[in-house]
Amino acid sequence: MDVFQPLKLHSTVLPNRLLMAPVKTAFATPDGEVTYNHESYYRRRAEGGAAAIIVEPLYIDKMGKEHPKQLGISSYRHIEGLSRLVNAIHEGGSMAVAHLNHGGRAANPKVTGNPPEAPSAVVCQAKGTTPAVMTVERIKNVILGFAGAARRALEAGFDIIEIQFGLGYLIAQFLSPLTNLRSDEYGGSKENRYRFAEEVLTAIREEVGEDPALIARISATEQVEGGPGIDDAIELAGLLEDHGISAVHVVSGSVCDSPPWYFQHMRLPAGKNLDWAGMIKNEVNVPVIAAGRLGAPADIRHALENEIIDVVALGRPLIADPDLPRKMMENRDEDIIQCGACLQGCLVSVKSGKGIRCIINPEVGNESGKLKTADKPKTVVVVGGGPGGIQAAWTANERGHKVILFDKGQLGGTFNLSYLPPGKEMMKRPLTSLIHRIRSSPVDLRLSTEATVDAILAEKPYLVVIATGAKPAELSIPGLENPLTGEEVLTGKKTVGKRVLIIGGGMVGLECAEFLAERDHEVTVVEILDDIARDMEPITKKLTTRNLERLNAGILTGTKICRFKDKTAFILKENEEVSLGEFDSVVAAVGTTPVDGLVSPLREKGINVEVIGDAKAPGQIFDAVRDGFEIALTI
Ligand SMILES: Cc1cc2nc3c(=O)[nH]c(=O)nc-3n(C[C@H](O)[C@H](O)[C@H](O)COP(=O)(O)O)c2cc1C
Ligand code: SF4
Repeated sequence: MDVFQPLKLHSTVLPNRLLMAPVKTAFATPDGEVTYNHESYYRRRAEGGAAAIIVEPLYIDKMGKEHPKQLGISSYRHIEGLSRLVNAIHEGGSMAVAHLNHGGRAANPKVTGNPPEAPSAVVCQAKGTTPAVMTVERIKNVILGFAGAARRALEAGFDIIEIQFGLGYLIAQFLSPLTNLRSDEYGGSKENRYRFAEEVLTAIREEVGEDPALIARISATEQVEGGPGIDDAIELAGLLEDHGISAVHVVSGSVCDSPPWYFQHMRLPAGKNLDWAGMIKNEVNVPVIAAGRLGAPADIRHALENEIIDVVALGRPLIADPDLPRKMMENRDEDIIQCGACLQGCLVSVKSGKGIRCIINPEVGNESGKLKTADKPKTVVVVGGGPGGIQAAWTANERGHKVILFDKGQLGGTFNLSYLPPGKEMMKRPLTSLIHRIRSSPVDLRLSTEATVDAILAEKPYLVVIATGAKPAELSIPGLENPLTGEEVLTGKKTVGKRVLIIGGGMVGLECAEFLAERDHEVTVVEILDDIARDMEPITKKLTTRNLERLNAGILTGTKICRFKDKTAFILKENEEVSLGEFDSVVAAVGTTPVDGLVSPLREKGINVEVIGDAKAPGQIFDAVRDGFEIALTI
């Protein structure tokens, strides 16, 4: 079926087959109330053309709250704010889906003030919390809590209700034999373990009546040894269908035990959720939705046109580009800004509580409608075609300015290196999207062109944006000559010997280490600090270090190289020099130094100059893009 073919879902008709998946935003007040950020963020996503927006998880009971800034539906006090949110989504043109959840053992004790509650006292690995065991009375109470939350969802105006049966949250904890060790009527046999799920669904249906569509979000497999797998998911889907569910929404993983699957990390094999969802679709009669790295238009069409599933849910792809549905409808696939599945912006900023962000979409969390056209068009020169320069140039152009972008090489800057390390191929997608967008804009691109002071002055710019990035910091160690850079390693520009010493255990150092270890080099990383990869997204860090361990790469923290003699590296240990052995190549990955040589000469000529990204201070793609955006808003 076609992406834009409507779908009848119980008593509702979805105008197309694209939904937004539930993604925490960390925008709520401490009481779980809706904020202005919620309204503008979700309105913007609805305007992009998705049939329905599944709003981030709403905690149905304070004890099930997972994040300090999570939205609530546990009290009638939440209804007013949620109605405003629903209105914003409706105004944007989409239907609104309330996603009901109780975190169980994944709830945050710092938020609830109590240990989390769960069917059994099984520790949550990812969070390190051990829950208290729920009494039968409490179980009945939580079932009523789900039903009450569903009623409040309808009162707030939500069109559809989704219930979280998967991803290792409370209901899934009852389903799994690994987390449900009870011996009463809610544990033991499969029938007993499934009882809580059945009772929640029955209570909700009784409370809301026959009308609203109810969606069940389930994990096709939790990807945990001995835990629920695809056969269990098929059985669960059938049972939920028998109890009146209107659609099944398939994901995989568990919040406590398999976060890379839950968050669909870029390193996992692609397409697995779709395959599993297809297997479930073969066994049920209700529509099947799937989520998980399905943001490429070709993948969406493949999934729907081949009827593998009925609906595609998109989480991060609609964060990176809310207009994805509309662009597909207008046959403008190549204009979509594609998510790179990096988690570096969205997950990191949700976890830190800052509120959701995206490395390539600086408007996330800052949605304020259309970019305001500048009062007076001006000439802006941007020097440097990396992510920050591209963003500054594009935004300034969108605001009506005349923009000239110089780069002495090609577009992309350090972004061109981002997809080269193992498992990061998906990062090529946002890079390609941003380059396509700037190439198809009216920005005057002067590539392979050195931006000399004279060339810049000739344009009579109102403002020059310096986005010239940074170069690898120099390393001064006695006996060390011409170490390799991360770029030279990843691009293969220089030959690397068999035994390699990498100095610096940040992201660049570890990525080079993995890149080389996978190509049969013997790699040792030394880091002066006590911790490595502090600039890496935590799941990526874990997967990278695990792979380095598998590849027998050595990692020495709290270690400083004091000198080299010929090929031998020495460290100081208790004031004694100790040899680390001989190395054929040394890679220096100890940070960067800004390239900002144009700033003073331009300022001396009285030119208005702003410096952004790595040319200002070392940072990540996210910082450069945001700088570029913010500068362009001020012109
Ligand atoms: C930052 C972040 C927070 C998320 N929070 C939730 C959540 O609270 N509940 C949930 O069911 N899924 C959550 N998800 C998972 C998404 O709904 C979705 O299944 C996942 O991102 C894969 O889909 P995608 O590749 O389209 O993003 C979250 C994902 C991200 C990236
Ligand atoms: S931060 Fe990365 S993973 Fe998250 S939406 Fe943006 S591009 Fe996608």
